Amino acid sequence: MGRAYDATWGRLFAAFYDRGLKASEESGLGEMRRALLAEARGRVVEIGAGTGLNLGLYGDEVQDLTLVEPDPHMGARLRERLTDRAGDPALPPARLVSVPAEAIPFAADTFDTAVATLVLCTVPDPAAAIAELARVLKPGGRLFFIEHVRAADRGGALWQDRLEKPWRFLADGCHCNRDTEATLGASAFAIERLEHGKLPKAIAIVRPLISGSAVLAA
Ligand SMILES: C[S@@+](CC[C@H](N)C(=O)[O-])C[C@H]1O[C@@H](n2cnc3c(N)ncnc32)[C@H](O)[C@@H]1O
Repeated sequence: MGRAYDATWGRLFAAFYDRGLKASEESGLGEMRRALLAEARGRVVEIGAGTGLNLGLYGDEVQDLTLVEPDPHMGARLRERLTDRAGDPALPPARLVSVPAEAIPFAADTFDTAVATLVLCTVPDPAAAIAELARVLKPGGRLFFIEHVRAADRGGALWQDRLEKPWRFLADGCHCNRDTEATLGASAFAIERLEHGKLPKAIAIVRPLISGSAVLAA
């Protein structure tokens, strides 16, 4: 995908992102985010933070928030949200870092918690992004995730494979057929909790969902 594509469709995708997800958020996704993020602690790194839909959901035990978002259009929306909320005591100190999750410019053992929501479908190299989170997290650190994934049934997975390319174009780089559970399972993290569910109000190819947490050896 070239620069002209990024400049036009990428901008539109960012502009309509929150509206596109509104029905899902109101039908359960928002609550899933809230329940998961309530467990975040200490220094938190969130990858692919998008427009900042998670921003208001972090609890008191978060010390600071590093938001990794390489896309300039998403980043602009996120910056706006951060500015709107400046001075809000409910928002931990937050900074935006405009880099890909595969190369996070922080030393090893910097963060206590990592967050990835609806992002491992889109990063070009999810295994590298997860390895990078394992590097920057302290031993015993946790990764909290909500990700739409490859369907467990053959028919569903076949449709995801068939529609992967057009969907990737429409959804700004999202791969609807990724087996993120397997990628996590092959990483340095140990999955400690994983629930299978459905992305509410979503079309079938992006409906299968996993959420939970994974931990690094202490
Ligand atoms: C579907 S959006 C999810 C946004 C947000 N996490 C949420 O829960 O609504 C996917 C995000 O991943 C970002 N992204 C794409 N490539 C990335 C990469 N290499 N590293 C980090 N984020 C990336 C996109 O710019 C986009 O903001």
